[in-house]
Amino acid sequence: MKDFAGKIAFITGGGSGAGFGQAKVFAEAGCKIVIADIRQDHLDQAKAYFRDKKAQVHTIKLDITDRKAYAAAADEVEKVFGSPPQLLFNTAGVNTFGPTEASTFEDYDWVIGVDLGGVINGMVTFVPRMIKAGKGGHITTVASWGGLMGQPGCAPYSAAKAAVINLMESYYIALKQYGIGVSVVCPTGIISNIGESTYTRPKHLENTGYNVNDKTIEFMRYHYSFGIEPVDLARVIKKGIEDGILYIVPMPDAEKALRANFERVIDYTTLEGMKRQDEIEKKRREERQKTTPKNIQGAAEAGWGKARPDITWVKPR
Ligand code: NAI
Repeated sequence: MKDFAGKIAFITGGGSGAGFGQAKVFAEAGCKIVIADIRQDHLDQAKAYFRDKKAQVHTIKLDITDRKAYAAAADEVEKVFGSPPQLLFNTAGVNTFGPTEASTFEDYDWVIGVDLGGVINGMVTFVPRMIKAGKGGHITTVASWGGLMGQPGCAPYSAAKAAVINLMESYYIALKQYGIGVSVVCPTGIISNIGESTYTRPKHLENTGYNVNDKTIEFMRYHYSFGIEPVDLARVIKKGIEDGILYIVPMPDAEKALRANFERVIDYTTLEGMKRQDEIEKKRREERQKTTPKNIQGAAEAGWGKARPDITWVKPR
């Protein structure tokens, strides 16, 4: 897709971070914007930003895990703008950190429910409507670089993002014949509010195996003050959509990093390779002990990434 003028863009998580950046950039490109977000304060912030701008922006309070509410939101878009969107951004996401072995069912149900279930809900709600409208379009899902590998400090998140990456490749192939492009974005760090994810965690899923409290949230606010600016990321995404790219990997030397990633997978298929990866991992740890990267300074003091205090059987890594 090259021409965005007059197109309707539906952005989940559009009230903050990466999604808010998309709202700004695609509004600038002439799209009519729908911002769907679970947090009223994030919707209010977006509304305030666009108040004196020329763009047509509509906000909807939506929990993407609620299928009925999602269908109602899709109906609302058609009522307000006269058509289903031509651009769908599955951007909303949550994360929480702690040892894999301490994860509870609720940690999985919440994170996978939003990060994979929410994307599935977006696809099942909008894809048939987009096809029937016959106007083509483009769907972009924000996954993560972390979806390309196992991450023992946020296993539910990595699993959800891995599934989303795979799912988007399926949709990419399936939707070509309808003139609907698909992209999946695999960023590393984005400056955002994702460190506050726990504020939207539903009550019935609050039983976590991880150490989550005001100190760890404060640390995450610091951690997520490093990374790519959301507007810059949205510009990279826009270029990816224009070029019809499936995997958008916004990092310098993406090809080198991807090759190393897939070499790791190949290494994990042989004994010799497993040893090589153990060595690489050991070196990485030693390096980290010598010079802690800025974005994780203070993690230990905050107790970030640890098990819930009453879970005493988890060994430190
Ligand atoms: P953010 O927290 O600033 O923005 C996410 C938005 O999604 C928030 O406004 C939040 O209220 C909303 N949201 C959360 N749960 C929701 C639900 N159930 N229904 C509707 N809206 C919901 O965080 P960020 O970082 O901008 O996140 C955007 C995407 O980027 C996520 O999918 C995240 O996994 C991904 N990502 C973030 C990275 C980072 O370093 N911040 C790195 C790689 C990927």
